[in-house]
Amino acid sequence: MQNLQSIISSHISTLYSDILFSATLSAPPKPEHGEYCFGVFTLAKPLSKSPNQIAEEIASKLREDTTHFTQVNVIGGYVNLSCAANVWMDILSQVENQQQEKKNQTIVVDYIGANAGKPLHIGHICTPSIGQAICNIYRHLGYYVIWDSHFGDWGGIFGKLIWSFKNDWIAAFSTESDKISYRKAFLNNLSIDSLLELYQSFHIPILGNEDDAKIKQEDRENGARIEFKKLVSWDFENVELWKKFTAISITEIEKKLGVLEIKATYNIGESFYEWLNLPRPNNEDYPNLEFNMKDIVRELIEKWVATQNEDGSVGVVFPEESKIPSCILQKKDGTGLYLTSDLAAIKYRMTNGWNPSKIIYCVDVRQQLHLRQAIWIAKKAWGLENVELFHAFNGFIKLKEGTMSTRHGTVIFLEDLITEGEERTSQLLAEKWRTGDNALSPEDIEAITIGAIKYSYLSQDREKDVTFDWDKALSFEWNSGPYIQYACVRAAKIVGTIEIKKYDYSQIEWLSPYDTALIRTLAEMEAKIQITADTYKPHTLALYCYDLAVCFNSFYVHTPKILEESDADLKNLRLTLCRLTADKLTLWFDLLAIQMPSEM
Ligand code: ARG
Repeated sequence: MQNLQSIISSHISTLYSDILFSATLSAPPKPEHGEYCFGVFTLAKPLSKSPNQIAEEIASKLREDTTHFTQVNVIGGYVNLSCAANVWMDILSQVENQQQEKKNQTIVVDYIGANAGKPLHIGHICTPSIGQAICNIYRHLGYYVIWDSHFGDWGGIFGKLIWSFKNDWIAAFSTESDKISYRKAFLNNLSIDSLLELYQSFHIPILGNEDDAKIKQEDRENGARIEFKKLVSWDFENVELWKKFTAISITEIEKKLGVLEIKATYNIGESFYEWLNLPRPNNEDYPNLEFNMKDIVRELIEKWVATQNEDGSVGVVFPEESKIPSCILQKKDGTGLYLTSDLAAIKYRMTNGWNPSKIIYCVDVRQQLHLRQAIWIAKKAWGLENVELFHAFNGFIKLKEGTMSTRHGTVIFLEDLITEGEERTSQLLAEKWRTGDNALSPEDIEAITIGAIKYSYLSQDREKDVTFDWDKALSFEWNSGPYIQYACVRAAKIVGTIEIKKYDYSQIEWLSPYDTALIRTLAEMEAKIQITADTYKPHTLALYCYDLAVCFNSFYVHTPKILEESDADLKNLRLTLCRLTADKLTLWFDLLAIQMPSEM
């Protein structure tokens, strides 16, 4: 690409000596116009000429260069060109030899944010998928990436779980020895479902007199608050229960998100920033914390960023022009808030030796204000000129059919969604005679199902809400994960185990428009990955995979049987194009954290 651009630039500079111009090349809207086009509109002002006139002048200059261009024409301020085979060969060799250099920079991605004690639901496709793609893409670009799940292992929910465990479950046994053996059995067989049962039993609607029910619920809430306070003050039993509940939640989240190819480096929980020195439930190896939330609040008061209110609480009032509503960092009883723990997390990440140049928050849109406040306060207090703090927020996913029937009311659990998906995939494959001996492996069915789910979310702008529709997600005919997977499998199959011979570039004199379109699309890769990284929007890369799959399919349909091609150089070139398509699609799906099936 660089070469073609510099060829064009050097012609333009001989034409207009002191003008610097770099052509932005793209595919013309209609293939009959040419293979590449570029606009010259920015030259109109410095040259004081109409774009059309400039385009004509440039076109006649380029026409003289018959080594590189076979056809040049002008349409309304655009120069359209078709290139000689040697130019295409150069472009292709750049694609083949692309390499990423190591960047000496660290990026922290804060991205799963799941909460302990609750099973994963359909919404957990969103931030984890976006975040994982961003992590993978930055790592591919040569950055050192730290995947930090900012795990929600703290808060009132633990008081509720513990209260329910002690009062609704254990208390139901009359003798002390029954209580002890039940307790032991319960904790030994602990699962995420048992935590859900505890949570639900805490909230069961109490039938009968409404006032009576309210009082009872109030008692329960008070009881839960007391249990939580005991946890905060290191009550041995409650800490032990917290550790068990948290550990099982992490295991569960890692297992379920693992199916979606999502895996954090660290599950540093919110509790960590409470400075309670709780045991690390997962024994992960991250640096210790050197300060607590109270230190942060004190520091912010000293720096005149936060102020103490009359009632003893501490808050921040933002300047009017920022239009950010004021907030509280410490309650009058001295406890910190969610916002305070995020400030502690920023300070921790900046001072623990990681030294990131970016902290990217993949957190949903509802937390926009929260993160604006956190980022504003952090910048005000600590400067942080050399680090970018960015909230790559995302919208939600909902089902077209509305809610699905699940075991538990209206929540659509991730597990149920995946099970339904696998049934639908198998059904669809059966319609394509992929049954019996011809059936796909369970791994391939899983790759197709997960690919369908993840691609349908990742191919849309993360800022928007997405309606999930099984028919579209699993369509083999249009923009979907399976469509792209199919193109990839097809491309790989053509090459099979053939060893592609080195072809002689100089011997190739003619390429079909399908060859050149495929090379051109492959050559867009680097730019697309860069846009994806710069905007933190994986849909650019996802849609690019679709473009390449469409382009490959049209190449496949219009190219005579490659293996029967008599021109050995052309045959090897086309096999190379198939190989590159399969390899690159696999790589980019890998960046989006989607697997390719081996068969389809
Ligand atoms: N656990 C939080 C929630 O469910 C999300 C955490 C997002 N990350 C952060 N640094 N605040 O709301």
